[in-house]
Amino acid sequence: MRVYLDNNSTTPISDEVKKEIVSAMDVYGNPSSLHQFGVEARNIVEKARLRIAQALGCDNQEIIFTGGGTESDNLAVRGYLKTTSKKHIITSAIEHHAVYNMFNELEKEGYRVSRIGVDKNGILDIEQLKEHLSEETAIVSIMLANNETGAVQPIAEVVSAVKSIYPHIIVHTDAVQAFGKMKFKVKDLGVDLLSVSAHKINGPKGVGALYVRKGVKIKHLVSGGHHERNIRPGTENVAGIAGFGLAAELSVSGIDRNNGQLEKLKIKFIKGIRESIDNITVNGDPEKTLSNTVNVSFNNVEGESVIMMLDMHGIAVSTGSACTSGSLEPSHVLKAMGADPVSSQGSIRFSMGKYTTEDEIDYLLEKLPSVIERLRKMSPLERESK
Ligand SMILES: Cc1ncc(COP(=O)(O)O)c(C=O)c1O
Repeated sequence: MRVYLDNNSTTPISDEVKKEIVSAMDVYGNPSSLHQFGVEARNIVEKARLRIAQALGCDNQEIIFTGGGTESDNLAVRGYLKTTSKKHIITSAIEHHAVYNMFNELEKEGYRVSRIGVDKNGILDIEQLKEHLSEETAIVSIMLANNETGAVQPIAEVVSAVKSIYPHIIVHTDAVQAFGKMKFKVKDLGVDLLSVSAHKINGPKGVGALYVRKGVKIKHLVSGGHHERNIRPGTENVAGIAGFGLAAELSVSGIDRNNGQLEKLKIKFIKGIRESIDNITVNGDPEKTLSNTVNVSFNNVEGESVIMMLDMHGIAVSTGSACTSGSLEPSHVLKAMGADPVSSQGSIRFSMGKYTTEDEIDYLLEKLPSVIERLRKMSPLERESK
């Protein structure tokens, strides 16, 4: 049996989306060309833009296509910073590397960075955020749902906390993991900029979008033609965009059905491991995490070894930990949550998707206890703790 439980990393392309991409590939015109070939390609891009706008609850003119979530994040933050002389920027301690490393680099470039902490469940400390806001703050970038733990952040509250004191501050959210997995509309969140990516929602890799609220000005990061309202030059990835449009529509229309199924599987899985494996920590409050994500620390084992052994049973999972072997450095997300560095080393992210079945979770629950038991038998840490 092969079981794919790494959907936060990427997802399989659905058959409908595959067909949409293949048929768009037959339309080879350049969407910027004025002749019929170009018009046909332009129509495909605009249809997808409308689908994404509808899925996000915004105007189609507010969507800019990009080359993925990482690019959308960079375009949002750096693109806005090019328009202002303000030098203070705020983010959280639990961002995906697309934002986390960008802020590290911006710090080296001379920006003053505030990194807001989270509680033990990985939820942003809004009071701490308020303390850091100032007249000099240019932008606040906080993710909507965390990729390692699935913890959902209170972005609407962030926006009202920020804007009620400093209406000039721009708020960006990285919604790459949240899109299609939790219900939200950009207007309800109130954000100025929001990033999404196709390959997390059963769409193709290398395509993303940035929502830019009407009236918010950002500048391009690479120079080129006038594509995407001068904000993202370069001929559009027509087939990828077509696939993204359909994937967005399908993920949002199927959200209740998918989440209903995923929630049942999540409860079953957490109950199952709690009954069959001792010394574990479920990271994050399952009530406040995405329906598809369960992050677990298994004491006295190494995450990488768990991945390898589960892989031998055909089960694909990933480690939330960024540790290199031999190092006790836990993932920055678990560290920010105050997790014990040793047990964080054995943390595993199980991320389900719309094709995950109950049989697959049963298979995982059958194999996982013996994998952990075997690894613990070999672990010097386990022996020391006895
Ligand atoms: C929260 C988050 N932001 C950004 C990204 C990057 O997206 P992409 O792979 O499309 O560049 C990811 C992908 O893992 C993610 O989980």
